Amino acid sequence: MPHALSLSRVSKSFGGVRALRDVSLDVQPGEAHALVGENGAGKSTLINIVAGAIHADAGELRVRGRIVSDPTPAAMRAMGIAVIHQHPSLFPHVSVAENIALGWETRRPAGLIDHAERRRKAKDVLERIGARIEPETEAWRLSFAQQQLVEIARALAGDASIILFDEPTAGLGVDDAQRLFDLIRKLKQQNAAIVYISHRLEELPAIADRITVLRDGQHVATRAMNELSRDAIVSLMVGREYAAPAIASANGRRAVQASAAPAGFGENALASAESQRPASDPPLLELKGLSCSASGACDVSLAIRAGEVLGIAGLVGSGRTELARAITGHDPADRGEVLIEGRVRRVRSPIDAARLGIGYLPEDRRRDGVIGDMTVIENVNAATMSGTDRVSTLLGLIDRSRERAAASDSIARFDVRPPAADAIVSSLSGGNQQKVAIAQRAAAKPRILILDEPTQGVDVAAKAEIHRIIREMANAGAGVLMISSDLGEVLAMSDRVGVMRAGRLVEVLDHGDATPQRVMSLAVGGEA
Ligand SMILES: Nc1ncnc2c1ncn2[C@@H]1O[C@H](COP(=O)(O)OP(=O)(O)OP(=O)(O)O)[C@@H](O)[C@H]1O
Ligand SMILES: [Mg+2]
Repeated sequence: MPHALSLSRVSKSFGGVRALRDVSLDVQPGEAHALVGENGAGKSTLINIVAGAIHADAGELRVRGRIVSDPTPAAMRAMGIAVIHQHPSLFPHVSVAENIALGWETRRPAGLIDHAERRRKAKDVLERIGARIEPETEAWRLSFAQQQLVEIARALAGDASIILFDEPTAGLGVDDAQRLFDLIRKLKQQNAAIVYISHRLEELPAIADRITVLRDGQHVATRAMNELSRDAIVSLMVGREYAAPAIASANGRRAVQASAAPAGFGENALASAESQRPASDPPLLELKGLSCSASGACDVSLAIRAGEVLGIAGLVGSGRTELARAITGHDPADRGEVLIEGRVRRVRSPIDAARLGIGYLPEDRRRDGVIGDMTVIENVNAATMSGTDRVSTLLGLIDRSRERAAASDSIARFDVRPPAADAIVSSLSGGNQQKVAIAQRAAAKPRILILDEPTQGVDVAAKAEIHRIIREMANAGAGVLMISSDLGEVLAMSDRVGVMRAGRLVEVLDHGDATPQRVMSLAVGGEA
């Protein structure tokens, strides 16, 4: 039987960056093949070549044994190849049904548009993946996770036999992810060939048969999935023995404080601020009955003290992002109060929030997290460009050399690759864009930091680094509200864990009481 898909000695460069070098890979019918590697290793580039979205400089691409000489997107689709891209790319102002139709109508002869059939088909495929989304909804109204589900639905609507998933679960919660895995197992039974990219290495054994590791654009290894432990995979990814760093967890914070503080945060004066602050101080941020009818956050009360990380767990759609948007003035609250250090404040807009020292990392980095067509340096310094910041002079002139030094510092700390301050952000790999987004928030040194899925799409090493920096910012006296669909991350990082369900904060657990079982059962409504 020929390979369903095979790439042989494929290379691709972007300007001076060699994204892929002589990479070979084959995928069998009925096989799920995991593709892993650090941020920037070349995974999406490889997928984009198979999708026909970009052309390889050299190498050979075969589908079911036949050489593909002209790999255009239409030609690849016609051969039964479907791609779920790392960033959902829906047409915002048309309906979900019409977006999904793009996945299958292009594979049929031209003819009249049948709206009823589009609807039926969309409903069908959405049901197959267990997504509760109305086909008539305009795409721009969807949450990030919903967009991702529609992206998946679109790819599957065309009954493709070779399906490439580029981090499909990065924005999904456990329940949606589980449904996707069930579906992938079903597709395998139907003999589909699957390539599956993910930084959530723990999810791979449940679905993948083989795994290929890329490093710096080169093929490092292909093995049976059950031959490699998680640590062995990470070691192959980073190219040396890798021992997971002790996570900067809530209960491990003394260890973190004691370790040598890297430049930036944790200046001594700040690092000890928390211990000097009397416990009777008002919380940094307090919400009293905050509600927002536009977004659906409902009667939320909570308090975050200086030095504290409050994690927010909950299913996708439970109102976590909506809460963050209400606090930061994106969807201003219509009832309830926001208090900052004990004073009632009006947060009617994102600008109000920024003035009050509230930093915000939104979940959808492409929409609001970074400015794609600006450089790394411009993005990193964007938050500190006001008159009183640390990179402009007293006269209000921008000090380019200090700006550059600050950006280089951020690039080094977050290990942005390639480490080029002048690179256009949209040319970076997905995970590296996320690093830039978080570097910008860290550079602004907000007192209150609201993070929505801070480590989505970043590799294992970068994730540990981001955790360490979040903990450092808290130790330096910031109050952090961290939303994450990664339950392990929430449990490890949070001093307290809030659980949301249907727009409400149903419970706030102390670190010690927050077990995975307890959080999950609160999230799905298993207990009162
Ligand atoms: N359009 C482009 N222009 C310039 N460089 C690019 C472009 N697309 C990708 N690159 C570079 O190619 C390399 C590989 O990027 P790619 O997106 O394939 O990485 P990845 O493995 O998917 O990473 P991630 O896990 O972060 O998504 C990176 O160094 C990236 O900066
Ligand atoms: Mg990628």
